[in-house]
Amino acid sequence: MPVSADDIRSLHKYEIRILKGIERLMKRYQWVPEDKLREAADLSMSELNYRLGHLMAKNMVKSSTLPYQGYQLVFNGYDTLAVNALVKKGTVQALGCLLGVGKESAVYEALGVGVVVLKFHRIGQRSFQSVRLNRNYLPEWKHFPWIFASNESATREFEALKELHRGGVSVPVPVGINRNVVAMSFIAGVNLNQAVLENPDEVLDEILENMRIAYSLGYIHNDLSEFNVMVDNERVWIIDWPQWIDPSHENADEILKRDLYNIVNYFSKKYGISFTVEEALKRVVG
Ligand SMILES: Nc1ncnc2c1ncn2[C@@H]1O[C@H](COP(=O)(O)OP(=O)(O)OP(=O)(O)O)[C@@H](O)[C@H]1O
Ligand SMILES: [Mg+2]
Repeated sequence: MPVSADDIRSLHKYEIRILKGIERLMKRYQWVPEDKLREAADLSMSELNYRLGHLMAKNMVKSSTLPYQGYQLVFNGYDTLAVNALVKKGTVQALGCLLGVGKESAVYEALGVGVVVLKFHRIGQRSFQSVRLNRNYLPEWKHFPWIFASNESATREFEALKELHRGGVSVPVPVGINRNVVAMSFIAGVNLNQAVLENPDEVLDEILENMRIAYSLGYIHNDLSEFNVMVDNERVWIIDWPQWIDPSHENADEILKRDLYNIVNYFSKKYGISFTVEEALKRVVG
């Protein structure tokens, strides 16, 4: 279950204070001791327990009684701190509806300067396998690989969107980042798999042109398919970039071919356009 907008809106300021206290102390403790948390939040024990009850009911915090009474943030609590910070900064004014939940993210519509999208990166939620592969944890997050990995994924996507946007690739415009959450411009379009195109040749051409520019800037998408392309009145947008790789990556050729295969195969099946992977590759790499 992703974080709920209602749950975030209805938080009391003491509850935010407690979430922040737990977050800070999680750098030192796997389970944040109750007495340390009480000191950090500067609340009476009864107030603390009352507020913790709310936070646990909203599935933002979990507790353990072994080896002692302690607390940890879970994704909903961490997401809440990120949204809270984006609101304070003015990037976000209101959280809207859920647009989609993927394997490793949840995407919401929100209001900021115009309509924006908030992408909550949630790596290691269902499986820690991919997280374990990455051993470059910052020491303070050694007990919490999901925090490290989710922050890293958000940062990678945000930085890529900045570079790609600046370089002229058609991507959502990144407008902010906090912890594991990226804010970007809203695309009033549909995913390519849901579109019925009137001029599929031109759309395919535009996708390949975007991949060519991205490649020249040093980016291969690495998860390209009809699900990560959006179309808006036949304008094309390439979304979902956290897993991008550099053209110098040892498997770059294979990965780029797979990306291009997904696209040409889709246009061939749905629109009968015969364009080979080799032709697409020539177009992208030159
Ligand atoms: N900027 C945006 N504007 C409008 N809709 C968006 C935007 N970004 C994402 N979406 C919608 O949310 C869906 C999920 O976003 P995205 O593809 O970035 O992540 P994901 O597929 O959930 O990630 P994962 O690959 O981990 O499952 C998209 O398919 C798209 O429908
Ligand atoms: Mg996607």
